[in-house]
Amino acid sequence: MRLALERRDALGARHDAALAGLFERGEKPTPLPAPLERDDTAVGGALASAWDARQLTGRRGEVTTFHAAGGAERVVLVGLGPIERYTAEVARRAAAEGVRALKGRAARSIGYRLPTFVAEGVPAEAAMRALADGAALGAYEFVAYRPSVDAGVESATIHLGPELAREETTLRAAFEEESAIVDAVVYAREIANLPADTATPERLAEEARQLGKEFGFRVTVLDETALARDGMGGLLAVGGGSAHPPRLVVLDYPGRGRGTRTIALVGKGITFDSGGISLKAAEHLEEMKFDKSGAVAVLGIVRAAARLKVAPRVVGLLACAENLPGGRAYRPGDLVRPYGGPAIEVTNTDAEGRVVMADALGYAVRNVHADAIVDLATLTGGQVVALGDDTAALVATDDALAEGLLAASRATGEPLWRMPLTDYHRALVKSEIGAVRNSSGIRVAVLSQAAAFLETFVGRTPWAHLDIAGPAYTTLTTRKYMPAYQNYGATAFGVRLVTRFLLDAGRPTRAGR
Ligand code: BES
Ligand code: MN
Ligand code: ZN
Repeated sequence: MRLALERRDALGARHDAALAGLFERGEKPTPLPAPLERDDTAVGGALASAWDARQLTGRRGEVTTFHAAGGAERVVLVGLGPIERYTAEVARRAAAEGVRALKGRAARSIGYRLPTFVAEGVPAEAAMRALADGAALGAYEFVAYRPSVDAGVESATIHLGPELAREETTLRAAFEEESAIVDAVVYAREIANLPADTATPERLAEEARQLGKEFGFRVTVLDETALARDGMGGLLAVGGGSAHPPRLVVLDYPGRGRGTRTIALVGKGITFDSGGISLKAAEHLEEMKFDKSGAVAVLGIVRAAARLKVAPRVVGLLACAENLPGGRAYRPGDLVRPYGGPAIEVTNTDAEGRVVMADALGYAVRNVHADAIVDLATLTGGQVVALGDDTAALVATDDALAEGLLAASRATGEPLWRMPLTDYHRALVKSEIGAVRNSSGIRVAVLSQAAAFLETFVGRTPWAHLDIAGPAYTTLTTRKYMPAYQNYGATAFGVRLVTRFLLDAGRPTRAGR
């Protein structure tokens, strides 16, 4: 979708529809909210009549269309719920509900009336960012393989109108930034939705190379020969069973200016997770094409970081392999030597993510000399059990790093919840044969056990781990409970969150986003 920002009002701008926000009315009779008087005039008073007749409530999820005679204007009101509980997240959802409702209803070009989405606690900039996110992400669908596609909204313009015209300069700068971020989310969703026969480790490497060319940063790809040369035992073990060999992909965005911090982003890139010799059950196995979502999120984040020229150096590390059974597959009982780290006892080949990530984390510590490591991984079913499909788990060894990520979570509306990592979890993954075992077989605090395993390979580097197994994608069942801007399939969770974190890294915090 094309996004734009304009100073003039949405009404009279010749869109197929003008969208306005409507707060929920109370019990007492109240006049139509003042900002909507212009919308009412545009549709010949129909809006005020409906309001007075209580045919309009402004409840969340309510989308109501008014047509002016002669087709001069179509005004769509999206419910925002009670004003006391209004947040930017409500606006993000409402913006998406609007574009979804207009699908197949001859609305190619729409305009949002920004002033109707502004309230105490949600200033114009926050509302504008939410509308941009909600419009573009709500309209997104994976259509590459569909036989036919209903025409949906193709362009959304956010209009300031006379009320906000004075803020144009700051709003425009923020809009350019948010557009680049949303672009990266859509880019990541397109790759994450690709099936495993197409999105192979080599293909992910190719996507990285293209980014490097487009944005002018260095990309290094370690193929199976280089992995063997360097002793990357984790990737070689997990990728052994597949005809598509593993890759470690390094994207190196140098940052702005000298002496900036280096942040390594490690992504789990299992292009398909069958479980390997410890084979998974057939049910829902098709979802395991999304097991590359962490790596794909890193592609999106580095793309946004390079385009927005964030201050820190950002090194993206994609640990890519396909986990299949076969004659060359790794097996339970194997002892694996990851890059620069102590031996791993493999007790379950389905706990493969942590094994490939051991190599990438070792690379971040030894070769990148990262000041901080943030990893994203669809690592455990335990994360989904603990927090569900909307909230990712955060485990961190550094409180400042954790607080930075939690602040970015609050700013973007991508939910994050910090979970513990203690000696209890470390004891569970300890091995009698190697340093750690990749599965204890004891089904308690599985996400923290996985974190304890990863911690073994980060040394003293400040580190934060995001387990995104639940929020990385929605299914036909789970999407019903998710916001309208998370359509069926990949969500690219983490792109908005971590890009925000990188933008704010080393910057004084700004209030009111
Ligand atoms: N890729 C899965 C985790 C997963 C589950 C992602 C559901 C998305 C949705 C991971 O590789 C896995 O199989 N984890 C096992 C680990 C266990 C064997 C220790 C799990 O969590 O059950
Ligand atoms: Mn697995
Ligand atoms: Zn997996």
